[in-house]
Amino acid sequence: MRKIVLAGLNECLGSAFSGLSDILSLARRAIVRAGAPAESASDPFIVVAASPDGEAVRDRSGASFPVAASFEAIETCDAIIVPSFSPDANGRPPDMSPFSATAAWLRRHHARGALIAGCGSGVFLLGEAGLLEGRRCTTSWRDYEELKQRYARVDAAWSARLIEDRRVVTAAGPFSWIDVALHVVRTLCGADAARVAAAFTVGEAAPAKGAHHGQNSYAATTLNAGASAFLADAERIVRQSDALMSAQELARALLTSERTLHRKLKQACGESPKTFIDRIRVETARTLLETSAKPVKELVASAGFADEASFRRAFRRFAGMAPSAYRIWARARSQNKGQLFTLQKDAEVVSKLLTTIFDACVNGVTLADPDLEDTPIIYANRPFTRITGYGLDEIIGRNCRFLQAEDRDQEGRQRLREAILNREQVEVTLRNYRKDGALFHNRLNITPLFDADGHLLYFLGVQYDVSNQVQAELEIGDLRAKLLSLTE
Ligand SMILES: Cc1cc2nc3c(=O)[nH]c(=O)nc-3n(C[C@H](O)[C@H](O)[C@H](O)COP(=O)(O)O)c2cc1C
Repeated sequence: MRKIVLAGLNECLGSAFSGLSDILSLARRAIVRAGAPAESASDPFIVVAASPDGEAVRDRSGASFPVAASFEAIETCDAIIVPSFSPDANGRPPDMSPFSATAAWLRRHHARGALIAGCGSGVFLLGEAGLLEGRRCTTSWRDYEELKQRYARVDAAWSARLIEDRRVVTAAGPFSWIDVALHVVRTLCGADAARVAAAFTVGEAAPAKGAHHGQNSYAATTLNAGASAFLADAERIVRQSDALMSAQELARALLTSERTLHRKLKQACGESPKTFIDRIRVETARTLLETSAKPVKELVASAGFADEASFRRAFRRFAGMAPSAYRIWARARSQNKGQLFTLQKDAEVVSKLLTTIFDACVNGVTLADPDLEDTPIIYANRPFTRITGYGLDEIIGRNCRFLQAEDRDQEGRQRLREAILNREQVEVTLRNYRKDGALFHNRLNITPLFDADGHLLYFLGVQYDVSNQVQAELEIGDLRAKLLSLTE
């Protein structure tokens, strides 16, 4: 069974320390009750509140919080969470040097494989432990400069909400402990369990479509079960039914008429029975996409759709993107990639900007993500689909080499490969093949995109179809050869 330790230190925020304990025990109960995911449902984790000497923790106001163990009594654990501290008289995070023994203890457990998390100014203790050196991390914007000043070798991000870098989790804001608790649950027990925990503990309302920060990223985009028992029942029936479900069948299962079902759903959530059923099924599909590696085709039936086309249509409608793109997006989200990008240029603005600017280009424009396996394409503009003949569904999520088909023995490919490995800009012309098999000559320019701190974020690819030019050059070459043979 997993063990999560709450590191209680005098001067921590009492609400954060006891809040963490509350949210984790509520989460634990919700996971056990929901039986999700099956393998960790019976005993997902235990929570141990501890302090340096095993004595009760006192916050700045003098309130005292009992603990179960001393730090040294904890031999092994899977995660340690450090809550935020009360600010000192100058409004800054307190001096961490008195906590040097605790810092060493954190370092030891990290080296043994535990996840170490800091909330708000608790991040400073991770700095004291040397755990932030060379790591991407975040803290409250107010303490950003202070963190960099105290721990010169941190790779601090400006205003990111939560970042995990190699088992070190940092979160911004004194009350970020909710985000941290859910993140730890997600890491230890999986996305399904985190979703159950979030839906029960914080996800009271359905988050806005596409919202992907903090608690919303874990909360199921389901209806508010508390608002209507009828809705909750309807949702449960749709989720639990294996076979396809029509409005008529749902009405029957709810012991009501189709007409009443229609009226009640309209009243409660403004949806028709069909829309309601599709939306719940898309929610199931989202979980399946996040938690399994099965190809999209194989998830169609498990999500409760009759065929792939209707599944893809419904998925696009509710998730705002194709299933394969969603899988990549969700993976990037869990690695905080979306948030890193947000640091520089708000993600939504970027995607809107990309779409409006690049769709108007005549050339193909693509973005590939080097942090995902095999550097797949995560964005392609419309001209790229026109040049290649492939739909976005067939492009997103794949390495672009599929355009070379069987024609892999090309000098340009080797140069391209090296430049990508070395993160350098490169331009080559390759023989590529459209979906219908027709050859075209692709002048490809690849530019690595770095953030302000020099981290590679994406590769930008610009594709020019230079078939006419290549053809003209070939003809000129031919003519020249003929002329030469005449004059010889
Ligand atoms: C952003 C980006 C766009 C790319 N676009 C193409 C393309 O349009 N056509 C192509 O043949 N290769 C393209 N590539 C190159 C291949 O993905 C791959 O890097 C290349 O074939 C060398 O790797 P390989 O030898 O493993 O195939 C692109 C790469 C990146 C990073």
